[in-house]
Amino acid sequence: MPQAKSLRPPIAQALMCFASLLVSAVRCSPPESPIKCSSGTINCTVTNSYGMYPDRTICRAAQVALPSSEAELVGALAEASRARRKVKVVTRYVHSIPKLSCPDGEDGILISTQNLNRVVSVNSSALLMTVESGMLLRDLIKDAGAAGLALPSSPYWTGVTVGGMLGTGAHGSSLWGKGSAVHEYVVGIRIVTPASAEDGYAVVRSIVAEDPELDAVKVSLGVLGIISQVTFKLQPLFKRSITYEQRSDADLATAILAFAQQYEFADITWYPGNRMALYRKDNRVSVNAFGNGLYDFLGFGHIAALVSAADRRAVDLKKLKISFHSRNYVEETLEALGDADGKCVNAAVVIGALALSAYGLTNNGVLFTGYPVVGMQHRMQASGGCLDGSDDALLTACPWDPRVKGKFLHATTFCVALHRVHDFILQVQKLRDLHSSALCNSDINNGILMRYVKASSAYLGKDEDCVDFDIVYYRSHDPTKPRLYEDFLEEIEQMALVKYGALPHWGKNRNIAFDGVIDKYSNRKDFLKVKNKYDPMGLFSSEWTDQILGIKGKPSIVKDGCALEGLCVCSEDRHCAPEKGYLCRSGKVYQDARVCTRI
Ligand SMILES: Cc1cc2nc3c(=O)[nH]c(=O)nc-3n(C[C@H](O)[C@H](O)[C@H](O)COP(=O)(O)OP(=O)(O)OC[C@H]3O[C@@H](n4cnc5c(N)ncnc54)[C@H](O)[C@@H]3O)c2cc1C
Ligand SMILES: *[C@@H]1O[C@H](CO)[C@@H](O)[C@H](O)[C@H]1NC(C)=O
Ligand SMILES: *[C@@H]1O[C@H](CO)[C@@H](O)[C@H](O)[C@H]1NC(C)=O
Repeated sequence: MPQAKSLRPPIAQALMCFASLLVSAVRCSPPESPIKCSSGTINCTVTNSYGMYPDRTICRAAQVALPSSEAELVGALAEASRARRKVKVVTRYVHSIPKLSCPDGEDGILISTQNLNRVVSVNSSALLMTVESGMLLRDLIKDAGAAGLALPSSPYWTGVTVGGMLGTGAHGSSLWGKGSAVHEYVVGIRIVTPASAEDGYAVVRSIVAEDPELDAVKVSLGVLGIISQVTFKLQPLFKRSITYEQRSDADLATAILAFAQQYEFADITWYPGNRMALYRKDNRVSVNAFGNGLYDFLGFGHIAALVSAADRRAVDLKKLKISFHSRNYVEETLEALGDADGKCVNAAVVIGALALSAYGLTNNGVLFTGYPVVGMQHRMQASGGCLDGSDDALLTACPWDPRVKGKFLHATTFCVALHRVHDFILQVQKLRDLHSSALCNSDINNGILMRYVKASSAYLGKDEDCVDFDIVYYRSHDPTKPRLYEDFLEEIEQMALVKYGALPHWGKNRNIAFDGVIDKYSNRKDFLKVKNKYDPMGLFSSEWTDQILGIKGKPSIVKDGCALEGLCVCSEDRHCAPEKGYLCRSGKVYQDARVCTRI
C-alpha cells in the first residue's frame, strides 16, 4: 500500500482498514424495521433504510396493519377505504430513498407487506412462478433456483421486495432479450384497490399479460393500490461467467456502446477521478458449465468485513468497532481537511483492494482462484451479505445502517438515452479534466456504476434504451455544511437531467431530480387514467407522489442552503453557503447549470 505512506498517520491507519475489505465470515445484524410504533400497532413513524428522507424528515402514521394473507390484506384496505384514510404500502426494509413510503398527513394507515412473503405456486415446465409481493429478492431467486428457474435480471442487492422493485422500476444491466428491469418478466399481478360500499370497500383485480392496464401496474410508485401477488415468466436456470477487466477510461464514450452488444449482463464501473473503468464481462453459459462461483459483493457486506485479515484471527469486539469507525471517518476527515487529493489516493487504495479481492467473487463460495468465475445465476446476480444472520452489537450491520452512524450518502441515479450517452460521457470527461480530483468524490464510494436498461412498454418505465449512471457520494451529517467540490457533481446531475433529458431512478435521487420528471414520460396520461380508475379518492396519493406525478406542487424545496442538499437548484447565493465561501455560480462546461462553487 505505498500510496498511504505520504498521508497523515491517522488517515493512513484508516486507509488500512478501508483497504482490507477482504474478508467476511461473521453473522450479521439485520436492518431495523422502518416502522416504529409507540404502542403495539398504534401511533407510528415510518422512514427508509437510511433513517430519514432526502429532506431529513421522517413521517408519522396513525397505525400499521400487518396482513399475512390476501384476505387480510383486502380487510385492511377495506377498513381504511371505508374511513377514507390515507394509505401507504411499506416493505420489510424500505430501500427507496425518496418519500414514497410516507402516507399523506399524520394519521394515515401503513400496510406492511412484511408477512406476505411466500411462494404461491411454481410450474417449472411452464416457467411460471407466483409469489406474494413482500417476498425479498433474496428468497425469490433462491426459490426459483431450487425449482430450476432463473430470473434473468434483477437489482444487485437482495434486500428489496418484489412489490418494491416493481414500484420503482428496479433493474440490473442488459439490453438483450427483454432487458434488465424486473417488471419485464411479469405476466400477471393481483392488486387490491379501494372500492365502493357495494363492493365491500376493497377489491382484488387480477391483471393478466394481455391487459393494457398491466403497463400501469408494472411500475406504479405505489399509487394504484396494493399488489398482493405477482406471477413471473422465468427462464430455465443457467450459469454466468464473469471476468472483470480494468483499463483506462480514454475510450469509454465509444466502448460503452459496443460492450452492451458483446456481453448479455455487461456493466461498467467508472472511476472518473482516477481515469479508469472497470468492465464486467458477463455472459450466460450452460447450466452444465463447470463452476460453483458466488458473488457476494463487498459493498453490500456487513461492516465487520472491514476488519483486517490480521484482526480476523482474533476477532474482538473492540477492534471491530475501532476499524469500523475509522473507516467511516476517512471521508469525514478528508472533507474537514479539504483534501480532495487524499480522496483520490484513498479511492485508488480501495479500487486496488477490491480488484485484489475480485469484488467479492469466489470460484467456489470460499476462494477466488482466477477469472472467469462461473456460477449459477441465482448465486451470481445479486447479494446482500449484511442482511442475514442475527448478531447484536451492530458490528455486522449494513454499512449505511443509521444505528451505527455509518456511511451517510447522497445517491444520484439517472438513465441517459443510449444515443446520447457518447456525448454525455465526453462532456463529463471535459469537466473532469478541469480538475480531476474533484470527481474522486465518486471514486471513493465505489465509482459510478453504469448499467444498461431497455425501453419498456410500462407507462412509468424507460421510454428508450438507456444507460443508468449510479453515483453515490458523501453527505454531511450537518445540512449546512458544503461538500468539497460539490459543484462538479451538481453540474453532472443537472447536465444529465436537463441537457440530456435523463430519467431519474424513482427509488433514489435528491428532490431536484424529480422537477418536471413526469413530462419526460410520453404515456403519463395513460398512467393517470388507470390511477383515477383504481383509486379515485387518491387514498394512495401523498404530497410527494402528487409532486412527482405533476398533479400538485413541485418536488424541490427552496430555502437557505437548499442547494447543498439537492433540495433545490440554486438561483441565489443564500441557497448555497455564502458565509462559508460557497456561492451560486454557472457550470463550467454546461453553463446553464447553477451550482454551489467555492470562490
Ligand atoms: C443498497 C441498495 C442497492 C440497490 N440496488 C439497486 C439496483 O441494483 N438496481 C435498482 O434498480 N435499484 C437498486 N436499488 C433501489 C431499489 O431497488 C428500489 O429503491 C426499490 O424500490 C426498493 O424496494 P423495496 O422493496 O425496499 O421497496 P420500497 O422502497 O419500500 O417501496 C418502493 C415503492 O414501491 C411501492 N410498493 C412496495 N410494495 C408494494 C406493493 N406490494 N404494492 C404496491 N406498491 C408497493 C411503495 O409504496 C413505494 O412506492 C438499491 C437500493 C439500495 C438501498
Ligand atoms: C405517539 O408517540 C409519540 C412518540 O413517538 C408520543 O410523544 C405521543 O405521546 C404518542 N401519542 C399517543 C396518542 O400515544
Ligand atoms: C404447468 O404448465 C403446463 C403448461 O402450461 C400445464 O400443462 C400443466 O398442467 C401445469 N402444471 C400444473 C401443476 O399446473
